Amino acid sequence: MRIILLGPPGAGKGTYASRLTVILGIPHISTGDIVREEIKAQTKLGNEIKEYSDKGELVPDDIIIKLLARRLRKPCCEKGFILDGFPRTARQAEALDGISKVDLVINLNVPDKIIIQRLSNRLTCKKCGAIYNKLTLKPKKDTVCDECSSGLYQREDDKPKVIQERLDVYRKKTEPLVEWYKKKRLLKDVHCDDMMIPPEVVVEKIKVIIDASRKQGFPRNLTK
Ligand code: AP5
Repeated sequence: MRIILLGPPGAGKGTYASRLTVILGIPHISTGDIVREEIKAQTKLGNEIKEYSDKGELVPDDIIIKLLARRLRKPCCEKGFILDGFPRTARQAEALDGISKVDLVINLNVPDKIIIQRLSNRLTCKKCGAIYNKLTLKPKKDTVCDECSSGLYQREDDKPKVIQERLDVYRKKTEPLVEWYKKKRLLKDVHCDDMMIPPEVVVEKIKVIIDASRKQGFPRNLTK
């Protein structure tokens, strides 16, 4: 199954994808994680894209499409994948059409008020990338990852000014993709209006949609 998780920053794409990858046995591909890995490795490309990511701007299409295409060519993606954070522009959606078929697009709808609270309280593991929240998903020990015992940190782009910029960029450049995938009859909406609804409840809602989609004959031929 080839699934896209679409939604604004802080909608829960990474949180749900990290759980769905275990349930479905297909890789979770986050372009945000790919970008952060490049930055951490201080590659030439990493240094080039850091300024975009830190400011909450999108990395240029050409760069991100190349990075994504390279990841999708890996053998582990042959049975399907969960895309988190890609596509984010019309150009990226067109490029993805040329790289792979898509079976389902889950559109996560979350009010801005919840997004701002979630992102300003997010903690991420430096090593394994596990995601926590100071209000809703606390680690057992403050600032230590439950999974790998490494330190937790606040992302550079989770500062209040940058969060607003990311939301603006989402509305302008990514939200039009909702219509794009609606027209293709691939889009299903999931709503989360309550800050305290645990991730497992939302993951179950997504799982029901995936099962229904499978009954309708998805995934289609996986050769492309
Ligand atoms: P990226 O990392 O993709 O950032 P994003 O899309 O802004 O998404 P986030 O990771 O902030 O949020 P999320 O939806 O995954 O929410 P999460 O699960 O963490 O991209 C970062 C940057 O990289 C971009 O700004 C850009 O520069 C670049 N980039 C990446 N892809 C690109 C592309 N395609 N094109 C160009 N540039 C690109 O949840 C948020 C918080 O809420 C967490 O604390 C979590 O614990 C909590 N939470 C979520 N759901 C629940 C729940 N149900 N109950 C309790 N807590 C919850």
